[in-house]
Amino acid sequence: MRIVVDRSSVRSRLAGLVAANARADYVYSYPPRQSYRVFGESTAAAVPELVARSLRRFEDLNLYVHVPFCRQICRFCNLYAVAGANNDLDGYVDTVLEEAAGLARLTDRKTVTTLYIGGGTPSVLAAGQLERLIRFLLDRFSDRPDRLPPETALEVDPATVDLGKLRDLRAVGINRINLGYQSLVDGEVRGLGRRRPDSAGLALLEQALGVGFGNVCVDLIYGLAGQTDEGWEQSLLRVIALAPPTVCAYALTLRPFTGYSRLGYSAVDGATLYRRYEMANRLLQDAGYRQETHVRWVRDGGGYRQKANHWGLRNVLGVGAGARSYLWEADLRNGYSVRSRSATLRSYVDRVRSGDIAVTDGFLMTDDERRRKATALNLMALDRTWTRETLAFDPVERFAEEFAAFTESGLCETGPRHVTLTDKGVKYRDLLSQTLFSREVRTRVAEFNYDE
Ligand SMILES: C[S@@+](CC[C@H](N)C(=O)[O-])C[C@H]1O[C@@H](n2cnc3c(N)ncnc32)[C@H](O)[C@@H]1O
Ligand code: SF4
Repeated sequence: MRIVVDRSSVRSRLAGLVAANARADYVYSYPPRQSYRVFGESTAAAVPELVARSLRRFEDLNLYVHVPFCRQICRFCNLYAVAGANNDLDGYVDTVLEEAAGLARLTDRKTVTTLYIGGGTPSVLAAGQLERLIRFLLDRFSDRPDRLPPETALEVDPATVDLGKLRDLRAVGINRINLGYQSLVDGEVRGLGRRRPDSAGLALLEQALGVGFGNVCVDLIYGLAGQTDEGWEQSLLRVIALAPPTVCAYALTLRPFTGYSRLGYSAVDGATLYRRYEMANRLLQDAGYRQETHVRWVRDGGGYRQKANHWGLRNVLGVGAGARSYLWEADLRNGYSVRSRSATLRSYVDRVRSGDIAVTDGFLMTDDERRRKATALNLMALDRTWTRETLAFDPVERFAEEFAAFTESGLCETGPRHVTLTDKGVKYRDLLSQTLFSREVRTRVAEFNYDE
């Protein structure tokens, strides 16, 4: 992540950055992961108590499980994933359950509002293995273990499922799937470095829509190598024709040590990315979708409840190698690497098996950082009553310089109860969110070394 907005001169810099089509990475969590640091002994020792205190704060809980296994590592991907067909999936599920059992001892039962199984490619797990995960987690954490959370979600690589598997997923209680298509144009798909059989085309989406999931989400990326405006439009129109409840369109994030970077691909310019964002926004809204965030469009039944809860500062407790927890008192992470993928997995398993905490690094929150988090993440439509009640602050007063700059540039409108971004503001939302990063977070991001 490159910090592009210099805080000392928000007003003068912002107009220039917008005019120059400057890009900032998607701010999907705050603080960004580049500001996480490895915990020393005393912080690590304090993690269980910190988790317990955070969980005690709310009656509800969101659970996340990271399943890092993938059939291949896609060229654009910098998520924590391990390639190969020979991974011990049953053994991995056992380890995750062992980690979860330890965490469950720190808390009373909660109302589990979302359970999200992501990755990686969790759809490489058999339905039975997923069921074992779901049942165990509800059994340990939920005040109604017999009831599935309102959102029980699974990330799916379309190439790993067929109609039979989709039915099995529904039968074990998955009610939302995210289909990671990324593109529906053959040439572009080949450039992703993915093995995808023909069956993973649109027919699969049609089948998924017919199986009875409450919510089907299609993920697309713009800025891919070899992608043209025409190709981007084709992907969008093909998806829109089938009207899935949720469509996510992400601008490519390009990172060191990915396949793209090894191949020397440098991302397309800002003007092209903003143009593709506008194409997505126009086509989806014309087709009847409502814009939920700058990366997500929804129709009836659509949405992403765990993300909304995370941005609403509720606790998200993660288990698994590479999983992150977003808690009231801290962001925590169970290891991460795109350079030593298998070693990171082995070390996670060793930690859990030897009774150590799985957490390796993270960021301890303060009142100020929590206010920045609430503002930076919810900038599109910020509820001033909510911030007053939850965090005892008013964003327009606390971040007066930033909001004055947004308003002067026509990026934001301030009402007595809400602050909302204008259409232009939504387009530049990540730039605006970056202006709210603290000095500490900026310093950490600037010092972050991708080589480590
Ligand atoms: C957490 S990832 C899901 C990974 C899952 N294995 C898949 O491929 O579907 C959610 C989505 O983020 C998007 N994504 C992943 N890497 C990205 C990158 N480097 N730039 C932009 N979007 C990315 C993809 O659309 C992906 O489906
Ligand atoms: S994009 Fe998804 S399938 Fe591809 S390597 Fe990343 S996590 Fe795995």
